[in-house]
Amino acid sequence: MRQNMNQLLAYFDSELPGVNAFLEAETDKLSGLVRDVARHVLLGPGKRIRPIMTICTARVLGFSGDVMPLACALEMLHSATLIHDDILDDADLRRGRTAAHVAFGTTQSVLAGDVLLALANRLGASYDIPRVNLLLADGIMATAEGEILEMGSLEHPVVDRDLYMQIIIGKTARLIETACRCGAAVATRDRQAEDVAGKYGLNLGIAFQLVDDALDYVSPSDTMGKPEGGDLREGKITLPLIHLFEDLGESEARTLLTSIRDHTLDEDGQQRVLAMVREGDYANRTRETAARYIADAKAALAGLPDRPERAVLSLAADFVLSRKK
Ligand code: IPE
Ligand code: IPE
Ligand code: MG
Ligand code: MG
Repeated sequence: MRQNMNQLLAYFDSELPGVNAFLEAETDKLSGLVRDVARHVLLGPGKRIRPIMTICTARVLGFSGDVMPLACALEMLHSATLIHDDILDDADLRRGRTAAHVAFGTTQSVLAGDVLLALANRLGASYDIPRVNLLLADGIMATAEGEILEMGSLEHPVVDRDLYMQIIIGKTARLIETACRCGAAVATRDRQAEDVAGKYGLNLGIAFQLVDDALDYVSPSDTMGKPEGGDLREGKITLPLIHLFEDLGESEARTLLTSIRDHTLDEDGQQRVLAMVREGDYANRTRETAARYIADAKAALAGLPDRPERAVLSLAADFVLSRKK
């Protein structure tokens, strides 16, 4: 296991300098405040999961050209959604730094996010493969739709697993799927191969958000680099909380749901809920659900060629499940 994780780390070590150098050079070309906002967010300590997915899926399918513009386009799309997401969620910490909208203002951050979305599309267009831009556009739309669905559900929160799955697929998993499909699309026109990469990415993406929602209840903010217990405070009914609701008595559940909807859960109340989630081991149960999606993601890899990157994709799936931040 340790040996395996070392292999994964070695892969990240070999690719990340190229990713970071490209992001540094591209954001340096932007002007004024847009440049400052973009660099504040993009050059922060992100895990760079999405560009690594694009690099691996392109390489595993035999692409030998320059994958960096496309890989970095995915990181730009992701970072743009983070900038916008922190405005929507009124979150003040991102990647261990002050969130962009707090540091630079909402107007500047909205516009810098827009510029990053456009720049990502421009980089994608440099491949002259229309399919790549179609995939990028679909990924952006799905992310926005997931965010809208989640925002809409805050006013009328319900304990509903299907709705929860729809939200996390939209806001997170589709973009990770997009990262994988784009890598495939520059390597081959074989749609079946792209679908295999997409299946891996979608399942990985679902597991990624499930683990994120588990960590939100158990991982301190200095590890995660974002606010601790944020989901409960933001009124989000994620899987750890759904597990708690399912174990509560009917009237207790109704009272809790009402207090979440009306934002009347004070600091003590929040701490009590966090403690109940920890005592019920609901974060671990959420990770167990994630494990099923990781198994599906890894099973999909059998449909890809047996190149070294296939092993990296498999290890990346293990990492997503076991990650602590
Ligand atoms: C954060 O994504 C947003 C979610 C989809 C949960 P990451 O956890 O990949 O964020 P960075 O890029 O490492 O900061
Ligand atoms: C993650 O949204 C997905 C996007 C940023 C589009 P969240 O609101 O759940 O993620 P964090 O917790 O702020 O990273
Ligand atoms: Mg958020
Ligand atoms: Mg959000």
